[in-house]
Amino acid sequence: MSWIETLRTTFGDHLREQEPMSRYTSTRVGGSADALLEAGSAEELARMAELLWEQEIPFMVLGGGSNVLVSDAGVREVVLVNKARSVQFDEVGENPTVWAESGANFGLLARQAASRGLSGLEWAAGVPGTLGGAVFGNAGAHGRDMAGSLKLAEILHRTKALQAGRQLEFVKEQWSIKDMGYEYRSSLLKRNKGGHLPLEFLILAASLRLERSTPELVQARVDEYTEFRHSTQPPGASMGSMFKNPKGDYAGRLIDAAGLKGKAVGDAIISSRHGNFFINRGQATAQDIYRLIALARQTVADKFGIHLELEIELIGDWKGYGSEA
Ligand code: EPU
Repeated sequence: MSWIETLRTTFGDHLREQEPMSRYTSTRVGGSADALLEAGSAEELARMAELLWEQEIPFMVLGGGSNVLVSDAGVREVVLVNKARSVQFDEVGENPTVWAESGANFGLLARQAASRGLSGLEWAAGVPGTLGGAVFGNAGAHGRDMAGSLKLAEILHRTKALQAGRQLEFVKEQWSIKDMGYEYRSSLLKRNKGGHLPLEFLILAASLRLERSTPELVQARVDEYTEFRHSTQPPGASMGSMFKNPKGDYAGRLIDAAGLKGKAVGDAIISSRHGNFFINRGQATAQDIYRLIALARQTVADKFGIHLELEIELIGDWKGYGSEA
């Protein structure tokens, strides 16, 4: 049986074939996924992953699609869209926490904490995407990041079982901050994945540390950050920050100083409000955006001798697009 027949037999009506990824990404670009499945709970996500691992069918997990650029050629791996969204606050005892499945909307979670008078996630109220994506990429804003909030991440892992020389089996582990190996906008999971390898782990859920405060105080800080974002970051279909900030400088400042704001390729344009935001102003293709990325990199390297590293992930089939793709 071919892999697609295996999927049809296993998942029946749940399987979507030739599904346009532009429907699942904040920048609204991307070709079709050969096969796509939505998981409604962490349990379902784990079950799907285990089935795919057993069948040796490569797959990837997509959260909010807000930090990825999907190739126009689409995705050959099975895409698991993470819609596992349960959220539970634990306000009993000295140290309140929130536990949530990895598909929960992170900004919404932060706003729910604010309305309960729980402090610690104010920085995240305007961060797009899912909790899982934020845990994976060590999302951050306003001088804070996931590394400062995470208590534990629930990880489904298969590599360890394989390394132990046993038959394929799945290990559910609780990873502490230390296990996550966080760096600026990076984690052990993100570095290991390398963007190309078949997925060996899944983030199923996470719990985050909070502190007791009042709804008024927490909301005031959320409002302050929201105001800052509105004044510095553009609206419109983007992936947030395109590049990581290089040590001691800012990608947005460098792109700005290189005179690139307002530069366009097709319908992709570098925001005139913030140089690190690339906007799809209508019918942009992934190739348009990729060419703009290459232009920004080349110009900043020529003018300032600084190599800009992507913060976003390139997803799907990027054959023929150069070394980083
Ligand atoms: N700047 C310019 N020109 C520009 C843009 C920025 O000169 O076109 C200057 C600003 O004046 C400022 C500096 O560059 O002095 C940094 O800009 P900003 O304060 O807007 O912050 P950022 O470093 O560009 C980071 C995160 C954002 C986060 C904001 C707010 C990264 C790569 N980006 O942006 O995160 O929202 O701080 O805290 O770390 C994201 O990760 O997707 C994201 C949006």
